[in-house]
Amino acid sequence: MLKKELDTPSLIIDLDIFEKNLVVMRDFASGAGKQLRPHAKTHKCPEIARRQLACGNCAGICAAKLSEAEALAQAGIGNILITSPISVPGKIARIGALNRAIPDLKVTVDHPVQVEQLASVAGKDSPIHLLIDVDPEMGRTGVAFDRALEFARFIAKFPQLVLDGVQCYAGHLQHIVSGAERNAESSRLMKRGAAAFRAIAAGFPGCRIFTGTGTGTSAADVLIPEVTDIQVGSYCMMDAEYLAVEHTGPEYAPALRMISSVISCNHAGHATIDAGTKAIYVTPGAPPRVIDGNTFRSSVAYDWNFGDEHGHLTFPENVVMAPGERVELVVSHCDPTVNLFDELWVVRGEEVVDRWEISLRGCCQ
Ligand SMILES: Cc1ncc(COP(=O)(O)O)c(C=O)c1O
Repeated sequence: MLKKELDTPSLIIDLDIFEKNLVVMRDFASGAGKQLRPHAKTHKCPEIARRQLACGNCAGICAAKLSEAEALAQAGIGNILITSPISVPGKIARIGALNRAIPDLKVTVDHPVQVEQLASVAGKDSPIHLLIDVDPEMGRTGVAFDRALEFARFIAKFPQLVLDGVQCYAGHLQHIVSGAERNAESSRLMKRGAAAFRAIAAGFPGCRIFTGTGTGTSAADVLIPEVTDIQVGSYCMMDAEYLAVEHTGPEYAPALRMISSVISCNHAGHATIDAGTKAIYVTPGAPPRVIDGNTFRSSVAYDWNFGDEHGHLTFPENVVMAPGERVELVVSHCDPTVNLFDELWVVRGEEVVDRWEISLRGCCQ
């Protein structure tokens, strides 16, 4: 099948760009002496996780939620770090089961209650491995930097739990537009995370992992000596939000595209396409960008003003669009847009060469 024969709207992955993104990030990390722990929350696709791991230099893979980890495990993928703390009793029981089912599960914690709960489902022959989540002054999850050592001492009271490391992920910094500002702020916070990690590692020799980082701060964070691996996610697909920030490390190109088509064009200067808010997650301030091959069509702008089912394109009056005309878009934010679709159509040049299931779609538990 050819790309132009796909029904719309559909999500596609440009395989050449995707493969290059994987190699660029792998080489960038290994050149800095770090490993990758790619985040599957971005793509929710076991085939992409397999390819990231096969590309090499990976310490493991990340899942945001337990149900994502369960779906990755079902697809035969182990060595998963769940990057959000969990404390609902039913989910704690499921972590116990998953921990017995796959090798090298790791779970982040930020509260003594979670530690006690996890200890109750761990066993001598099935210890649960933990990472302490430290809060990079964001307030979302994590213990304060200066409470991390005390928390490690609490964890050490439970022989069925093993403290493997520390996680510090500064989500609020990833899209700061100025590269200099983003890097400076990330270095400041990661140095504080590194100090907490060093203090814990000094007393707990098993604590060897210091992980964190997203695509946006990766160039700064690999310069922190204590960082062992970087949890980058978006680099493999990219989106309009990331394309709007200044790069200070290698560039990653937009591999993820949405193919939509014009369904109505009875007015000069604007047209309606078949991708509205149900197809493209709304990120205020970072609308999707229209792209033709690898060139952005800056004269054509997308907005969500036509609602759930329809996208609104505006353009100069000399631009003429026709019903059925295909419009390719780089979506605003890859993670939640991928979560709206069942499949990624994999394209090499103009040809559709594969179909990858987004089987972690909807896994928000
Ligand atoms: C804990 C954690 N680590 C890593 C990432 C990956 O970040 P990015 O997609 O910016 O590379 C995310 C994304 O939200 C995250 O929540």
